[in-house]
Amino acid sequence: MAPRARRRHPLPALLLLCALLARLQVALPIAPPCTSERHYERLGRCCSKCEPGKYMSSKCTTNSDSICLPCGPDEYLDTWNEEDKCLLHKVCDSGKALVAVDIGNSTAPRRCTCMVGYHWSQDCECCRRNTECAPGLGAQHPLQLNKDTVCKPCLAGYFSDTFSSADKCRPWTNCTILGKKVERHGTEKSDVICSSSLPSRKPPNEAQVFLPGLIILLLFTSVALVAAIIFGVYYRKKGKALTANLWHWINEACGRLSGDKET
Ligand SMILES: *[C@@H]1O[C@H](CO)[C@@H](O)[C@H](O)[C@H]1NC(C)=O
Ligand SMILES: *[C@@H]1O[C@H](CO)[C@@H](O)[C@H](O)[C@H]1NC(C)=O
Repeated sequence: MAPRARRRHPLPALLLLCALLARLQVALPIAPPCTSERHYERLGRCCSKCEPGKYMSSKCTTNSDSICLPCGPDEYLDTWNEEDKCLLHKVCDSGKALVAVDIGNSTAPRRCTCMVGYHWSQDCECCRRNTECAPGLGAQHPLQLNKDTVCKPCLAGYFSDTFSSADKCRPWTNCTILGKKVERHGTEKSDVICSSSLPSRKPPNEAQVFLPGLIILLLFTSVALVAAIIFGVYYRKKGKALTANLWHWINEACGRLSGDKET
């Protein structure tokens, strides 16, 4: 019975299929634009949204598309939009330890981050100063930007004697290399203390201290010597005249001084 029925009515079924396909073909070109994020529906038609960096000055009408205008300075829009104005860039307030990590532009918002030495805290929604590691602890490196300090105990042979949010544990001083002996062993909080220098290293050190003094002394002596020679030569030539002049000058000066006192 069924095969007979198919043979008898193939045309209506085909017609139905064709009609369905035709409807689909007509519907397909219209449907996608308005479902895309770059279009919107208004007054029964599909209109363009504004591209990032522009806002919608006027919506579309029955016979014209939307009017988009660029964002002003210090403004942005980072999506395809129907906004009637752009968004204002935020301020990275240095007073709140914020600094711009990306200055932003008309299509991308400015991004702020905490300054070096600070990290973002969800609790206060603000930048907090990084934790300082106590003596005996050192900051784990590499330091993570915008992350709180991770403090680690100093390993054997290393120490930290300060509170610091950035300093690593430092290695103990190697007294052997300095040609000295260990006077006090190091701890995680203090450096090794080396004994005072060995005798063989002392003389050069003393020479270094006394050398400038010696040079000054030599300089003085030579200046005095030269002055004495010059004076000697001069005195031999015009000795008497000079002494007379000198005495005259001294007398005059004294006389003026005593005169000043009397008046
Ligand atoms: C805006 O900044 C974004 C992100 O930094 C960048 O990809 C884009 O090219 C910039 N656009 C312009 C117009 O400078
Ligand atoms: C000091 O340095 C020398 C030579 O580099 C090395 O052999 C020695 O192990 C070091 N000593 C310490 C305590 O680190």
